[in-house]
This record gives sequence, C-alpha cells and structure tokens, in this order.
Amino acid sequence: MIDSKSPPVDRIPPGIRGAEDYETLAAQHLAAPTLAYLAGGSGDDRTLRWNREALDRARLKPRVFARLDHASTTVTVLGRPLAHPLLLAPVACQGLVHPGAEVDIAHGAAATDTPLVLSSLATRPLEEVAAAATAGWWYQLWLGADRTDSLARLRRAERAGCSAIVVTVDAAVQLPSRRALRAGFTMPPGLSADPPPCFAHADTPFGRYRAAAVRREDLCWLVETSTVPVVVKGILHEADAGVCRELGVAGVVVSNHGGRTIDGVVASFDALPRIRSVLGDTCAVLFDGGVRSGADVLKAIAAGADAVLIGRLQIFALAVAGALGVAHMLKLLREELALTMAVTGCADLRTARDADLFVTGRGAD
Ligand SMILES: Cc1cc2nc3c(=O)[nH]c(=O)nc-3n(C[C@H](O)[C@H](O)[C@H](O)COP(=O)(O)O)c2cc1C
Repeated sequence: MIDSKSPPVDRIPPGIRGAEDYETLAAQHLAAPTLAYLAGGSGDDRTLRWNREALDRARLKPRVFARLDHASTTVTVLGRPLAHPLLLAPVACQGLVHPGAEVDIAHGAAATDTPLVLSSLATRPLEEVAAAATAGWWYQLWLGADRTDSLARLRRAERAGCSAIVVTVDAAVQLPSRRALRAGFTMPPGLSADPPPCFAHADTPFGRYRAAAVRREDLCWLVETSTVPVVVKGILHEADAGVCRELGVAGVVVSNHGGRTIDGVVASFDALPRIRSVLGDTCAVLFDGGVRSGADVLKAIAAGADAVLIGRLQIFALAVAGALGVAHMLKLLREELALTMAVTGCADLRTARDADLFVTGRGAD
C-alpha cells in the first residue's frame, strides 16, 4: 500500500534547518505520482502558487524597542488556551505515505502540544487516533446528503472525545490536478478506514455540486445537533463568513483547500483580513494555505487569524520520518515563530493584529 521510493527513516534526517525543508526532502521518500498528488493543486497550480506568493508579498516590519519580558506564543481558540497557534489541517488518506498514518501524526502532534483536525477520509479508525491525540483533536466532517450517515459520524467523533467539528464546504466538486494526472497518480483502493460519505450520483457538475454541497439548512441542523462547537472550513468570501456567524458557527477556516479545489480562486491570505474585519471577535478565525515557516504563521496572525492550520508540511514530514518527523517539523515551526516574534517585537499573538507588523502589495517593494 505504501508507495515510497525510500522508506521513512526513524531518526531526524541531517541537514534540516527549517520546517519547510521537509517539503524538499519528501521527494526522496515518495514516488513521483504520489508526490504530484500531494504537492499539486487543482488545474495548473495557479491558486497553489498564489497562496505562497501572497504570504511572500507580505513583508514584516520589525519594532526594535519592544519589551519581551513576558513574551509567549500562547493563544486561545474556541475558549481553550493553546501553547501555540498551530493545528494540523485535515489531510485525507495518510496511509498513502506511511503505515503509522494518522496515528503517527497524532503522536507527533501530541509531543508538541499541537491539536489536530482528523479528516473523515482517514486510513486509521478515529478511536485509535483519538487515543494518541493527547493535545486535543477536532473532527472534519463532509456533510453528505445522507443525514443518518452524518449523524452517525458526528456521534462517533463526540463519543471519542473530539472538541470541535469542522465542516468542509469548499470541495463539493473539484477540478483535478493536471500535475497528478500527468504523473499518472491513482488512489490505491481500500485505503480509507471508513466508507467515504455517500453522495447521490449525478452526471453533470451542477448535479454533483447539488448532491455534495453544504446548504444553510445543513449547517443549521449541525449547529443544533452537535454537542461541540462547529467550525466551517473553506471560507473565502466575507459575505459567507457573515452567513456562518448568523447560523451560529463558532469559527471559520479561511482556506482554499491548499489550492486543490478550483484553480483561479483567491489566495487564502488575501481573503483573510476582510473576513476578520466582517467577523470582528464574534467567531474564531483560522487560516491555512501555503504556510511553510514561522514567519508565515506570524503574518497570518497579524492579518487576522487566531491560529493556523498546517496541511502539506505534516504529510511531508510523516513521509520522511514518521511521528518523529512530524514532531520535529512542528518544533521547528514553533521555534521559527518565537524567533520571528522576538525579531519583530511581538510579545503577544493576541494583540498582533493591532501591531502594524507587516506591509504588503506595492508598499512592500
Ligand atoms: C493530500 C491532501 C489531502 C487533503 N484532504 C483534506 C480533507 O480530507 N479534508 C479537508 O477539509 N481538507 C483536506 N485537505 C486540505 C487541507 O486541510 C488544507 O486546507 C491545505 O492543505 C492547506 O494548505 P497547505 O497544504 O499549503 O498547508 C487536503 C490537502 C492535501 C494536500
């Protein structure tokens, strides 16, 4: 089942200087088609590229006389204090790159006080992952047309101790990755631990969309039914953020699915400030898309996020060195974040939004 060039190692590989080095190193451990599937975005990777470019365009503006006596990376998300603002994003089918799959991810996350969001398309049973995820975990749900199935998944996750439900709303239909198609990637059959959510069959894109899209009434139902806070993942338009707030969700993830749904949509970093300004402090605002360093994390927080989700870097670290790689990658990100905070004079992430920490666009050049 594992499709790797050289198997994952059980030590931290030499030469890793920063979290993003795991991305480069992963190429040595993954077969080309698998790498193309993981790394690629929808279509020709434009949005994927824009995610990175938007973060790169933002340039930090240090304050050198700040007092850092009580500086810390702590934040509060959904009412819970976290040691740092990093969470692991839901990433499907992790058994594709490592036999430990989501359980190893959970061990790596636990070792670094990092909560994780477990995908509904996990390759290991959620109870096993929950037992390892001692720093907390949220469950990502695809709200399919079948409420009986959604309810069963919700209750199972609640029983296993998840502390939030994340509903992904941006992937009802996806334009495939040309990079993955060219590389000949196909998903090995039988990877998923649970049957995927069943969506009614439909022939046209509109039909497929209607069968799988999350409607307002579905969200209302979920908010009423769930015993834990509901977070909506995949918001890019500030009007949709307003709808989420009206429907009583506890938080949104500003995300374009790592550029994997439709090529040509806006970079998530560019959508973030307006969404925060519409929501104010009424909802948690999380962010993902293109984060590869601690400086990226600080930029996202200064632009309006309470916390940041890490997608591809976790699967690359898993492919390279299993749980150890995941823990090491997260440790590096945390250290990079703390260092960037020190250099920019940011003592408290909760006030970073008001600190005028970066310039962007033409002003950056
Ligand atoms: C291989 C892969 C699988 C993914 N699977 C899911 C998923 O099952 N559910 C989901 O909501 N998002 C999924 N995502 C999107 C991530 O949660 C996240 O939004 C994205 O990876 C963030 O961008 P980054 O990879 O640049 O950090 C997946 C992303 C990748 C790369």
